[in-house]
Amino acid sequence: MTETRRKVLEVLAGKTVSPPPIWLMRQAGRYLPEYRATRAVAGSFLDLCYTPDLAVEVTLQPIRRYAFDAAILFSDILVIPDALSRNVRFEEGHGPRMDPIDADGIRLLKPEGIAEHLQPVFETVSRLRAELPSETTLLGFCGAPWTVATYMIAGQGTPDQAPARLFAYRNPEAFDYLLAFLADVSAEYLVRQIDAGADAVQIFDSWAGVLGEEEFARYAVKPVQRIIASVRAQRPQAKIIAFAKGAGQLLNGYRQATGADAIGLDWTVPLSFAKDLQKEGPVQGNLDPMRVVAGGVALEEGIDRILDALGHGPLIFNLGHGITPQADPEHVSALVARVRGAR
Ligand code: CP3
Repeated sequence: MTETRRKVLEVLAGKTVSPPPIWLMRQAGRYLPEYRATRAVAGSFLDLCYTPDLAVEVTLQPIRRYAFDAAILFSDILVIPDALSRNVRFEEGHGPRMDPIDADGIRLLKPEGIAEHLQPVFETVSRLRAELPSETTLLGFCGAPWTVATYMIAGQGTPDQAPARLFAYRNPEAFDYLLAFLADVSAEYLVRQIDAGADAVQIFDSWAGVLGEEEFARYAVKPVQRIIASVRAQRPQAKIIAFAKGAGQLLNGYRQATGADAIGLDWTVPLSFAKDLQKEGPVQGNLDPMRVVAGGVALEEGIDRILDALGHGPLIFNLGHGITPQADPEHVSALVARVRGAR
């Protein structure tokens, strides 16, 4: 029997695969008409996340269209606060909302019942592994404690996460406790995704870029390191991608400090620096999502620069952040074709 190659896993093991495997952050989403159609019948966004039939369907949609090398579980990083009874809702045109938490609320958080609440997510993962083509890597994910905490403190998204930064300066002990708590429940959540069939997992620290140097070490690196150490203690073979968006120079040493197999890079990371980071292990990224919206020469040049700089080492081709709703699905076809060699 021939072994199926899962190219994303080969790269995560440190191999150079040419052409590099490709998937896109937020590849299941509003830029796809078939996503909008499923979304319209789902009711709320959380209903979509918690209904395995629908979550499986929207996860598979971009795989059918583009045959990406990885599928990412359709869910959201905010199912963790939802499982913690923070009254999470996604309001049309407003993004996520939840009840803001304070220091007293943090002390009352309990891990009991989270796994039961998230059972539909694990069912989605196991059905996906059964339904996906065998060469497609299945990725699970969670939010990094810092990024999840920013939403829990503010009760919503904010442009610069000022509420969480302020809370952390005023209540450093409560904030450390919150991050450690989130790290522990997130590790458990990832282990269960792996057990359900996820081949690898990604930790999204989308708001790492608003932290100063000391705070990055304490609030971004340390909790992600805690998650990875805990997952590896339980599942030594686990493959983990850590994405600290906007971290810039602070990515120096981030892989070693967290223990991640691969690090995700946003589009502001210079390719010369990305090359240095790649000498130490696999990297993922880092096309500006706006190049996908623009299409044409802007798209082609962006792709070629990344392939020229990073294509000779372990690379998972991706965007530097999620694809946006205004992206043209035809531009995504052009992107995939070009990465796969139609230059
Ligand atoms: O295809 C995939 O990548 C898998 C699904 C996925 C979603 N969210 C679906 C989603 C993943 C991996 C996420 C992660 C996520 N969620 C992050 C980290 C990555 C990033 O983009 O920075 C964050 C910060 C969130 C929180 C979140 N969820 C916000 C701020 C919003 C509102 C903004 C928006 O894009 O609407 C969401 C909603 C959300 N999560 C949507 C999708 C497809 C859109 C909601 C809808 O379809 O109605």
